[in-house]
Amino acid sequence: MKALFSASLWKYTVGIFALIMITGTILSSVVDDVVILLCMLLFQAIVLFLMFVFAYDRFIKPLGKVSDTVGELLKGNYRARIYHAFHGEVGELSQKVNALARYLSELSLQEQIQSEQLASVINHTHSGLLFIDERGYIQLVNEEFLDIFGQREQDYLGHLYYDVIAYEDIHKTVQQIFLYEKNVKLPLFVKGQPADRFMEITGAPIFNERNILKGAVLAFYDITSFKKLELMRKDFVANVSHELKTPVTSIKGFSETLLEENVDEQTKQRFLQIIYDESNRLQLLINDLLTLTRLEKETPDVSFERVDLQDTISEIKPGFDLLAKERHLQFEVNISGNVSFVADSNQMKQVVINLLTNAFNYTPKGSVTLRASQSDSKTIIQVADTGIGMEPEAIPRIFERFYRLDEARSRDTGGTGLGLAIVKHIVEIHNGKIEVESAPEAGTTITILLPTSGEPTRETLYSEGNK
Ligand SMILES: Nc1ncnc2c1ncn2[C@@H]1O[C@H](COP(=O)(O)OP(=O)(O)O)[C@@H](O)[C@H]1O
Ligand SMILES: [Mg+2]
Repeated sequence: MKALFSASLWKYTVGIFALIMITGTILSSVVDDVVILLCMLLFQAIVLFLMFVFAYDRFIKPLGKVSDTVGELLKGNYRARIYHAFHGEVGELSQKVNALARYLSELSLQEQIQSEQLASVINHTHSGLLFIDERGYIQLVNEEFLDIFGQREQDYLGHLYYDVIAYEDIHKTVQQIFLYEKNVKLPLFVKGQPADRFMEITGAPIFNERNILKGAVLAFYDITSFKKLELMRKDFVANVSHELKTPVTSIKGFSETLLEENVDEQTKQRFLQIIYDESNRLQLLINDLLTLTRLEKETPDVSFERVDLQDTISEIKPGFDLLAKERHLQFEVNISGNVSFVADSNQMKQVVINLLTNAFNYTPKGSVTLRASQSDSKTIIQVADTGIGMEPEAIPRIFERFYRLDEARSRDTGGTGLGLAIVKHIVEIHNGKIEVESAPEAGTTITILLPTSGEPTRETLYSEGNK
């Protein structure tokens, strides 16, 4: 159709001319007078010309415009419109073409928005995504995928998956999806920089509307943190079992001996004392474990109230005074002014007891000092000793559960290896911070910084610096 309208006007002129010639030939046999014949032909030529002009203006030219616009739409230019106001049927047609063009441009805009949204979802999801077509060619990888496996997008797109992905487990997943046409889940270990990752691959087949397999989509979830947690939990259970085993074995052994053998009174007393000490140790361990469990709950039971540190310390000081006397240590309490702050008073007491217990246990000679001071925003509690101290490498580890520098020494002093883990948890619940200064044979100073009042937040604590 388009060719017809774009053909030059001379074709129509030739057509008109041919029509006049035919009419002339037919009329020449009926009309003898040449002048009349010419007049008739001239009249016919004028009528035909006027008809042509009318038809050209009303139909040929508008249809040409409509055809051009439809051509533009076909090329994907949805902004093309017919701007001439035509009349009649062609006018109606051009309005419909314009409406169609508007509809198409809206549709393409929506499609663009949707595909942008989809691309953004694909790229911002926290799982790596890989789409392979039914021939095994990679059609899509997202940013997370590139983050996990490295390289650039163009190194994957359009390549066969087994040529560009080195992991056998991924090949296996794709093959299983293609073979069984079912969802597949497999673990994957990714050796990587900066760190190794444990992943889980979930693969699913993709079918078209006629249920024919069109490809496979693979999602890669990072389960490293779950794995670490699982490992920590296993370690913890192993540690607890180990800690429980020693006293239980000892209690069982000595009580069996007492039951089965005739032992003299002195040995009996010694064995009973061991059984008592070991059961005491068990009790301490179980108490510490229960405390830790309570503190590690999603929402630990904390009752914030105004705590007067002087009151807390006077409750526990007599016990430590006695200990200091027994061990020939100097014990000093130095509270500058009235130190009162918002905290859980039982937990604060626990912190001070655990820190002082350590200071006494790891200080063979010299002194233990408890200092406290406060500003409007910060409360500082510090326990310093002149004891055995520790190497700098050990400092970050002493807050781990069951970490001890010297296991035998810790056991001898009745330590459970959980004291500082409990302190760390309590301080974290109060949005506080712990600092440790220590050197071998030079003593240890542990400083606790806590927010003084109101809803404790990290900002109030750090706004004035840490020291
Ligand atoms: N004041 C201190 N001086 C030297 N070492 C300490 C001190 N406080 C803690 N430690 C070290 O940190 C380890 C962990 O402390 P903690 O959690 O209280 O367990 P423990 O029951 O062994 O005391 C101790 O075993 C000890 O090696
Ligand atoms: Mg301790």
